[in-house]
Amino acid sequence: METKSNTAHYEVRGDIALITFDNPPVNGLGHPVRTAVVAGIEKALADPKVTAIVVTGAGKAFSGGADIKEFGGPKALAEPTLHTMIRVAETATKPVIVAIHTVCMGGGLEFSLGCHFRVASPGAQIALPEVKLGLIPGAGGTQRLPRVVGLETALNMIASGAPVASEQLGVPTKERPTALFDEIIEGDLIEGALAFARKVVAEKRPLKLVRDLKVTHPNAEAFVQFAKNSVTAVAKNFPAPLKCVEVVAASLTMPFEAGMRLERETFLALMMTPESRALRHAFFAERAASKIPDIPEDTKPRKIEKVGVIGAGTMGGGIAMNFLNAGIPVTILETKQEALDRGLATIRKNYEGTVKKGKLTADKMESRMALLKPTLSYDDLKDADLIIEAVFEEIGVKEQVFKKLDEVAKPGAILASNTSTLDVDKIASFTKRPGDVVGMHFFSPANVMKLLEVVRGKKSAPDVMATVMQVGKKIKKTAVVSGVCDGFIGNRMLKFYGRQANDLVEEGASPQQVDRAMEKFGFAMGPFRVADLAGNDIGWSIRKRLYAENANTPKQPIADKICEMGRFGQKTGAGWYRYEPGKRDAIPDPVVDKVIEEVRKANGVTPRKISDEEIVERCIYALVNEGARIVEECIAARASDVDMVYLTGYGFPLHRGGPMLYADQVGLPNVERAMKKYEKQTGDAFWKPAAILSKLAAEGKNFN
Ligand code: NAI
Repeated sequence: METKSNTAHYEVRGDIALITFDNPPVNGLGHPVRTAVVAGIEKALADPKVTAIVVTGAGKAFSGGADIKEFGGPKALAEPTLHTMIRVAETATKPVIVAIHTVCMGGGLEFSLGCHFRVASPGAQIALPEVKLGLIPGAGGTQRLPRVVGLETALNMIASGAPVASEQLGVPTKERPTALFDEIIEGDLIEGALAFARKVVAEKRPLKLVRDLKVTHPNAEAFVQFAKNSVTAVAKNFPAPLKCVEVVAASLTMPFEAGMRLERETFLALMMTPESRALRHAFFAERAASKIPDIPEDTKPRKIEKVGVIGAGTMGGGIAMNFLNAGIPVTILETKQEALDRGLATIRKNYEGTVKKGKLTADKMESRMALLKPTLSYDDLKDADLIIEAVFEEIGVKEQVFKKLDEVAKPGAILASNTSTLDVDKIASFTKRPGDVVGMHFFSPANVMKLLEVVRGKKSAPDVMATVMQVGKKIKKTAVVSGVCDGFIGNRMLKFYGRQANDLVEEGASPQQVDRAMEKFGFAMGPFRVADLAGNDIGWSIRKRLYAENANTPKQPIADKICEMGRFGQKTGAGWYRYEPGKRDAIPDPVVDKVIEEVRKANGVTPRKISDEEIVERCIYALVNEGARIVEECIAARASDVDMVYLTGYGFPLHRGGPMLYADQVGLPNVERAMKKYEKQTGDAFWKPAAILSKLAAEGKNFN
């Protein structure tokens, strides 16, 4: 049994000291671990019986690197720091050997590089992933790794952050006298490492210091230039990859200590960049999103071994694929054979596309398809543990389906709806088991998009929520909990983003200018190009419903007019732009300009010149203000959940970290001031800053 621990253990086996990190889940090198390792090495050095020291990790990983629980806090910098721990190993007068298995990343690898010898099991994942958090390795990785594995391998690993299998990093040969590992150990790692340690002692091998090695490359200058060009092309909005190249390249020309100083300065400077802050935020936000504040983490989830999907349309098919990909059998139900056949054919076509791209083998495709059972009969859903409904978005149809499910589903089965706009509590009330009902709002294409909004009804049972969050993880989604409200988190905010885009056009901007400004901000596509891609009819039908429900709903006359003309976007060859047959290039259309002009005239608007800055502020701050209200109303448990929704479901630029973090970075008092300015300028009550935003701004606090 795994015992909870956050330290490192010391024991002596024969004449070898064995130090074992023990800090589940991945042996993060937190302060207690570092303290115990330093103490262990000192104890071993002081013990005349000990001739060498082996360091390894207990459990599922050698070491995943820094302890994320300490990130950014005072403990991370408390002595002994990682630098100190490395120095103690490096300057030890007895051989220090690391025995690496499964996972060796970040600080775990940097420590290993400071040790005199390294042995590893085959298949261990070796990486310096700091670049993924917008950083460079900060404990010597940039200077030691190239000294051991050469400039090219080190640069590839450090600038990409991608893991490499231990056996690929090799053992020394005549042609290549230095390699990351001295031995790859096939059998029992600890026994192998202890035997290796005895050999080192018996042969009186000199203690190798990586820092003393020289980095050479036959064509260094050209290679470094090539690396700079490559990362610049890929890493558009992020400064860290280029810094990785520059600092690793310094190992060619600078003495070790000077290289270390450059690494430190660069690391600290990157730590302060908004891009790194955004990446670190996203990293923690994803972890936070999986926790529901009032539901204990040890809540026992229900078993999900069989899934049912109702409706084999656009969403039902994609939803089913998620489960098939995870090896979970799916029964998919339709009302007519024809619809069922169409749905199955689409799923097969999707898989065939993946096979063609070489990302899936034909055998795997067949084994996934074999897990899928089509049916027209509810009887076949009797033993499903989770049933997800994706039928037409009409409350009457949902009522029919949920009443039927209530009759046939086994006790304890979870009944989920993929509705994007309807009231999950109302849907739950169609059954006699509202505690088992929940929303699972997937995004299109459901087999591709990362986001899953888990909609918690008033009565959704805690273990139902825990189960659905676990299922989300299993099918590789980022699951974020939303309370019940119109549009849940994402679409509720999007409505206001879209409205600003429309208002800006009515006031004087062109759709092209709005799109360009938002694309410059970092979105892959501006709001009008997205609308043309997704289909303008979807928003139109929602608006028509809202206009009918509430006469005060602000109108979007240009968008409405464009839809009245049948311009639904790419699928009809025209929308906010026009499209050549079979092409996706958005071409500005004088017909749209004329519609815009007419609406302005009808509403008595004299168009004005609008700056790109105003466009970005109004579109993004609209998201921020509604996001703040969503946090205030506890629809989202935390601001970072709102960010996760936007990063994973709406293409919000990752280097900005989500709307709420972006607002934090701009400074909430600045954001509040701008909102008040727009409230005055437009007379739109929407711009009254959310109370929580004003409160945080006044207190000098942030959302995140
Ligand atoms: P769709 O029209 O492509 O598919 C609906 C399918 O349900 C059709 O194949 C239809 O034959 C079937 N169906 C209708 N009534 C049925 C019944 N009583 N029993 C069994 N099957 C029945 O619609 P789509 O786009 O897949 O949407 C489904 C649900 O997902 C809706 O609630 C929608 O709001 C929601 N949604 C849609 C998204 C999208 O981008 N299309 C995104 C997120 C949610």
